[in-house]
Amino acid sequence: PPGSIVLGIESSCDETGAGLVRVPEPGGAPQLLGHELASSSDQHARFGGVVPEIASRAHLESMTHTVRSAFAKAGVQRSDVSAVAVTCGPGLAGALLVGVAAAKAYAAAWDVPLYGVNHLAGHVAADTLEHGPLPTPSLALLVSGGHTQLLRIGDLAGDITEIGTTIDDAAGEAYDKVARILGLGYPGGPVIDRLAGQGDPTAIAFPRGLTGPRDARYDFSFSGLKTAVARWVEARQRAGEPVPVEDVCASFQEAVVDVLTAKTVRAATDLGIGTVLVAGGVAANGRLRALAQQRCDAAGLLLRVPRPGLCTDNGAMIAAVGALVAASGAAPSSPLLSGDPGLPV
Ligand code: KG4
Ligand code: ZN
Repeated sequence: PPGSIVLGIESSCDETGAGLVRVPEPGGAPQLLGHELASSSDQHARFGGVVPEIASRAHLESMTHTVRSAFAKAGVQRSDVSAVAVTCGPGLAGALLVGVAAAKAYAAAWDVPLYGVNHLAGHVAADTLEHGPLPTPSLALLVSGGHTQLLRIGDLAGDITEIGTTIDDAAGEAYDKVARILGLGYPGGPVIDRLAGQGDPTAIAFPRGLTGPRDARYDFSFSGLKTAVARWVEARQRAGEPVPVEDVCASFQEAVVDVLTAKTVRAATDLGIGTVLVAGGVAANGRLRALAQQRCDAAGLLLRVPRPGLCTDNGAMIAAVGALVAASGAAPSSPLLSGDPGLPV
């Protein structure tokens, strides 16, 4: 019921998240009460990407104290919780199972319903915690380490349609791979974002994937860009010349955000959708936020982007979807709920 509290649990990748939100009145937005995160990203850094086995173990170790800390931060009692929501996909199989098992245990112990939530819907719903109810339909650009999608949002509690996606690497994955090429560690997004600020985005003309006249209008491709960066850096090294890391970062980043924003604005315009939302870990990127704002303003579109702390994986965004689904009167998940690594939107 409106006013009651939902616990959300996230464990699809390398962040263990727990968040508490209040269920809205019909037509309203869930209210963030507090959330907590634990990350295993340091443990993956030397491998240049997430190691599933390490991530699963870290979730298992962090889960209970992360949930406890979320309650303390939110100033909420366990007896106030009326439902538990958990990411049930997409994500790493073993990592998902830790969160689903924990959520089932909490729901059973507190005798409250359990809602399995799609991680991608969670990223989009994160914005409602900051900016209120989303006008419908909206167009969401979801850019994370695992996904790059354009989604038409009819209703966050269920009506989400994919209208474009990456045909190879995700945008965040491209950041992480380029960081590995440059020896910058994992995750690559934040460090490239920072170094790009000191470089020249026009220094190197890297390719813009799938922007030819015959290319699928709303799909993305970043693997050619990653290869182009690798070749460019190798050629420099072979010639015995220094690699201008800041210029490579700035030029790579410009190629990514140019394509992301151009296709998003074109899709919104074509579909007659007036509100654009950018979500997912890459939405924390300073240049993406600035260029999206500039191009949405020029096209007369309203842009919404959550604050960086709500862009990356967290439990509050999962609780937000749980609250909206619960408010819609939908049935809870079955006790057979499991993790589905390839769960579609
Ligand atoms: O949404 P998220 O936390 O996890 C997934 O669901 O994948 O996204 C993580 C991704 C990583 O690839 C990371 O490098 C990227 O988001 N990222 C960024 C920035 N912060 C995180 N990419 C570009 N600029 C950033 N500031
Ligand atoms: Zn994510």
